[in-house]
Amino acid sequence: MDFSTVAKKASSGLLFLTIALMALSFVQCTPKHQVTSSTTTLINPDKGLKDYYRDYFPIGVAVSMASLHGPDSALIVKEFNSVTPENDMKMGPIHPSENVYNWKNADEIVDFATSHHIKIRGHNLCWHNQEAAWMFKGPNGEPVTKELLLQRLKNHIFTVAGRYKGKIYAWDVVNEAVDDGDDTTQIYRKSNWYKICNGPDFIEAAFRYAHEADPDAKLYYNDYNSEHPVKREKIYKLLKKLIEDHVPIDGVGMQAHWKLNDPSPNDLRKALDEVTSLGLKVQFTEMDITIRLPKSTPAPGTAPAAGGAMPTPEAGYTPEVEAKQIAQYKMAFDIFRQYRHFITNVTFWNVSDRSSWLDWRGGGLTGGAAAGVNTPREVRKAYPLLFDENRQRKKAYWSVVNF
Ligand code: XIL
Repeated sequence: MDFSTVAKKASSGLLFLTIALMALSFVQCTPKHQVTSSTTTLINPDKGLKDYYRDYFPIGVAVSMASLHGPDSALIVKEFNSVTPENDMKMGPIHPSENVYNWKNADEIVDFATSHHIKIRGHNLCWHNQEAAWMFKGPNGEPVTKELLLQRLKNHIFTVAGRYKGKIYAWDVVNEAVDDGDDTTQIYRKSNWYKICNGPDFIEAAFRYAHEADPDAKLYYNDYNSEHPVKREKIYKLLKKLIEDHVPIDGVGMQAHWKLNDPSPNDLRKALDEVTSLGLKVQFTEMDITIRLPKSTPAPGTAPAAGGAMPTPEAGYTPEVEAKQIAQYKMAFDIFRQYRHFITNVTFWNVSDRSSWLDWRGGGLTGGAAAGVNTPREVRKAYPLLFDENRQRKKAYWSVVNF
């Protein structure tokens, strides 16, 4: 064999090898920014969160008209197999006066999800925020009686849960009815519901109505800070009482509006252990991990804000913050997988960091204690989700699918 034949053979061999390697890397299509250490999951960009977690639990996202009608929509279909209407099924928006129901948006979400074989969580049937204010007034503008209020609650739940019977697989029946304070004897939030009913009867009633309206739907009690020791105990007492009274309840929604350092793994496990010891399932219903940390020490040379505490100077999504967020997400999902037999859904509250309900909160804006609006802080973006402002997967994403 002369030199030119050898060279030809070698170069065609090389060509073959190059093509084979290219084909292999095309098939694997490994993204550059994947987490590389101890990878056991086959990283494949055609898979979405829902696919990585197919053997564990559905992965959901809160949706709005804006997300269904814009570029979020394709991402929702690719990554998630459960949706929760962010606002469109709440009492006030869906039932603004006695004989008026706004079905348009809620129907659209249900149709969208059904046509894409996506599960639907209903949110929510009874809450003290975004409430239907008309329910609290009697026929002549006087405060409503307990009897009439419960009758209205029943009509509301029968109508809404009845309309979506068989389509909504789980409902947040009562939202945030537990008090936030440190007094452990004060279990219930002093909401309009509580005051008018002169106690917590509305909670039990709401569950019974929901079960009657849709006997196959799974029924959840939903709240935030469910891992904090004091609130955890209060929620536990509420759940125990419901179970003792044979109220039809399937599980607890832990909202999971979390921070970089909160909850601790220990508190998260304790919350899960307590709830599951009652025979209840858990859904993480509104997950996000904000980068905004409250701080009460005044910065040097700055005047205290109203209330004495100072806003936190926040530098944005720095590498340090990013690393902490990755670690917190990883910790959470490591524990979620360990509790897979008890966890029946993990849902994110909004699609990407482009727009989160937490952005710009604080600084005197109102918006509910779950957002931490009562804690002074500089008003910044929260960057709390797994997709960035350009809807691209963040490193935190790879940290939860890389197991
Ligand atoms: C939030 C929505 O995301 C916002 O758009 C709205 O302005 C206020 O409510 N706990 C809940 C959710 O149960 O319904 C809240 O959703 C966030 C806190």
